[in-house]
Amino acid sequence: MQVILRQLGDCSIRRAEPSDLIPVMEVNLKTLPEHYSDYFYESLLAEIPEAFIVAEVGNKIAGYIMCKTEYGFSNFKKLGFVKKGHVVSVAVLDEYRRKGIGKALVEESVNGIRIRKCDEFYLEVRCSNNDAVRLYEKLGFVIRQQLHSYYRDGEDAYLMAIEIDHT
Ligand SMILES: CC(C)(COP(=O)(O)OP(=O)(O)OC[C@H]1O[C@@H](n2cnc3c(N)ncnc32)[C@H](O)[C@@H]1OP(=O)(O)O)[C@@H](O)C(=O)NCCC(=O)NCCS
Repeated sequence: MQVILRQLGDCSIRRAEPSDLIPVMEVNLKTLPEHYSDYFYESLLAEIPEAFIVAEVGNKIAGYIMCKTEYGFSNFKKLGFVKKGHVVSVAVLDEYRRKGIGKALVEESVNGIRIRKCDEFYLEVRCSNNDAVRLYEKLGFVIRQQLHSYYRDGEDAYLMAIEIDHT
C-alpha cells in the first residue's frame, strides 16, 4: 500500500516502493555524479523505508531522498556516541526544481529518521553546491566540518548536521 506523506500541488511526496527504484536510479544518473549499484538502492529501501522517499508528478518520479542509519561519534557533543541518520543522496530533476520538492523530501526524511530514533542527522555536500547548502541551512542543518578532497574529483565537502528533537 502506498504511504503518501504530503501533497504539494500535483506532486505526491510518498515512501518509495521497490518498483520506484529504477526511476530513482534514472533521476540519480541525470542529476548527480555519484552513482550506486542496484543492490545498494535495494538495501537502503529494505533498511530504512521511512526515510527513502520519492516525489511523484503524474506517473513520473521527479525526485528522491535515500538515507541510512549508523552509530558513531556525535557531530555536536564531545565524546558522545549516538545513533545517526545519514543522507546518502537527494535530488530533484531540473524541470521540477524551485517548487519546494527538495525541502519537502528533506523534511519528510527528518520525520523518517526520527521514527527510527536517531539522535542526529547529517550529510555531505559539495562546498560549491550553493542551492543545496542554502536548502539545508533553511531546514536547520549547520556546517560542522569541511572534509578535504572528499569527492573523487578532489572537491571538498561540508559535513552538515542537525540534532533531532524527540519532544
Ligand atoms: C538541491 C536540490 C535537491 C533542491 O531541490 P529543489 O526542489 O529545487 O528545492 P526547493 O524547491 O525545496 O528549494 C530550492 C529553492 O527554491 C525556492 N522555492 C521553493 N518553492 C518555490 C516556489 N514555489 N517558487 C519559487 N521558488 C521556490 C526555495 O526558497 C529555494 O530557494 P533558495 O535556495 O533561493 O532559498 C536540487 O537543486 C537538486 O536536485 N540538485 C542536484 C542534486 C544535488 O545537488 N543534490 C544535493 C546533493 S548533497
